[in-house]
Amino acid sequence: MRGRVSLKIGVLGVLLVLCGLIVARAQQDNFFSEWRPNANTRGIRYVGNNACIECHKEQAQQLHTPMAQALEVAPDCRIVTAKGKLTFRNGPYTYTIAREGNAVLYSIADGRSSITKPILYCFGQGHVGQTFLFRHNDVLYETRVSYFEKLRGLDFTIGHRPAIPASLEDALGRAIAGDEPQQCFGCHTTGAVQGLELKLDQLSPGVGCEACHGPGEKHLAAMKAKNLDEPQIFNPGGLGGHELSQSFCGTCHTSFEQAMLLPGQSGINNIRFQPYRMFNSRGHNTNDSRVSCLACHNPHEQLQKDTAYYDQKCLACHLTTAKEKKTERRRADACPVSTSKCATCHMPKIELQGMHASFTDHWIRITKPNEPVPR
Ligand code: HEC
Ligand code: HEC
Ligand code: HEC
Ligand code: HEC
Ligand code: HEC
Ligand code: HEC
Ligand code: HEC
Repeated sequence: MRGRVSLKIGVLGVLLVLCGLIVARAQQDNFFSEWRPNANTRGIRYVGNNACIECHKEQAQQLHTPMAQALEVAPDCRIVTAKGKLTFRNGPYTYTIAREGNAVLYSIADGRSSITKPILYCFGQGHVGQTFLFRHNDVLYETRVSYFEKLRGLDFTIGHRPAIPASLEDALGRAIAGDEPQQCFGCHTTGAVQGLELKLDQLSPGVGCEACHGPGEKHLAAMKAKNLDEPQIFNPGGLGGHELSQSFCGTCHTSFEQAMLLPGQSGINNIRFQPYRMFNSRGHNTNDSRVSCLACHNPHEQLQKDTAYYDQKCLACHLTTAKEKKTERRRADACPVSTSKCATCHMPKIELQGMHASFTDHWIRITKPNEPVPR
């Protein structure tokens, strides 16, 4: 009798363990098939870019793109190091950002007194500009002034009013409050945000391999064991056009859903939100992979600046001339005006006030002179 009970318990135990394994396996599969940037890593460790490029030489050039350099940890901030010293004046206040020995210092003086803070992080690789973060009263702050490449110098950071602050302390900048630090570091670094938690000690600067592919610990182990059937890493190439653009690249480049949550959809500044703009283009169904971000951009390579490069992308759907025959795949109207350089007229570059830079409008459309830019 006792023997039978323990046999039953034994069988039950084996079954439970098996179920446990199946559930754990299903969760694992789910984890790597449903990975999105900034998701919880479930304790799987990041291994760093250098480990990845040992086997993936073809993708190694990603590390030279602006995305991979979207943040630098002070004092290794190239712009300040190259300039030595940057200054800006606003009413009684003089701002200085300067490299001094092994530190980058941010100071404000009003003639009577001054405040100096070491800069911790430099945001943006500076193609448009760079904003700096420091700590004040134990809270992260954004500097009130930023570097702008077009000016080759400092001006007000986007969103900071040019009015003259009442005190030196008010003139410092803006406290990055609530869950904003998670957002900033989530979009500009790898590994610093895991789920909702900010882990600055684990930060790897810039958008590196594992920001898009997920933490690599298990992949490394699987590949070293030649377990090729289960790569245990996320390949976004399998996502559909809409999901890729909106929920994948859109995590950081602002999807339609995210833009709708912003006050006034962020007004004219939403030109920077390519997924949102593309979603609004009449006729361009984002379910079609021919208008997904990957159709025109390889995230492992430098951005193509030659407009003619994009023509073939448009002509994957549009006829070149009205005389051409429509096919199942290629049936969108031909342009009555031109057969090349489509993006120059239909994806215009628009200068944003205060940003001192132009952005490419991904809201594909017929533009007319003096017509306001749609928002
Ligand atoms: C020891 C060599 C090795 C290292 C290190 C390595 N990989 Fe791989 N990786 C491979 C091999 C081999 C494959 C092909 C597997 C297959 O075809 O099933 C692969 C496949 C992939 C894929 C495609 C997976 C799929 O489902 O199609 C991605 C994405 C990837 N690796 C990213 C990375 C990243 C990111 C890192 C760093 C965290 C990394 N790899 C490190 C060997 C490696
Ligand atoms: C983890 C956040 C993140 C994800 C995910 C992400 N990006 Fe980016 N991307 C950035 C940041 C931040 C920059 C700005 C870098 C800078 O200039 O400092 C950027 C810049 C770019 C640029 C401009 C490069 C240049 O030369 O100015 C392109 C193109 C781009 N991303 C394409 C993509 C595509 C395509 C995807 C999806 C496959 C994607 N990104 C996913 C954060 C991200
Ligand atoms: C939702 C993701 C996201 C968040 C949050 C975010 N950024 Fe960015 N940031 C981007 C992307 C994508 C770009 C490149 C395209 C653009 O300019 O909009 C960028 C560009 C920049 C640039 C210009 C870089 C260049 O190309 O020269 C600066 C500076 C910058 N961010 C600073 C910050 C700071 C500081 C914070 C936090 C206070 C922050 N960002 C929060 C995604 C983000
Ligand atoms: C901004 C996001 C992003 C970053 C950063 C990124 N990748 Fe990718 N990676 C992708 C996307 C999207 C695909 C799918 C490409 C496709 O199917 O055309 C991909 C595909 C791959 C593949 C599979 C290639 C294949 O033929 O299927 C490998 C391997 C890979 N990436 C390695 C890397 C390595 C190594 C790094 C860092 C040096 C890196 N990636 C950085 C987005 C990224
Ligand atoms: C039909 C082609 C096409 C598609 C699809 C596309 N882009 Fe672009 N993108 C362009 C062109 C053209 C440029 C401008 C290149 C240049 O001249 O510098 C550009 C530039 C950019 C830049 C650089 C900043 C700027 O405003 O100039 C970023 C970032 C970017 N695209 C992100 C994305 C993201 C994210 C997606 C997916 C939602 C996407 N793009 C889809 C054609 C495309
Ligand atoms: C996935 C297929 C696809 C791609 C890729 C594509 N288009 Fe279109 N486009 C369409 C469809 C479908 C329409 C709707 C009407 C039609 O048949 O022309 C359209 C409409 C347009 C319109 C008219 C918009 C309006 O408001 O009347 C313009 C202009 C346009 N596309 C330009 C472009 C340019 C430029 C590119 C490349 C940068 C491009 N398209 C890429 C499918 C596409
Ligand atoms: C020099 C500027 C310019 C260039 C370059 C250009 N277009 Fe156009 N396109 C226009 C203008 C202007 C119109 C509106 C014409 C009208 O309404 O009479 C237009 C109209 C269109 C339409 C709407 C046609 C219709 O019947 O409603 C499409 C689609 C289109 N263009 C696609 C393209 C594609 C694809 C390319 C590249 C092969 C291209 N365009 C290159 C200026 C341009």
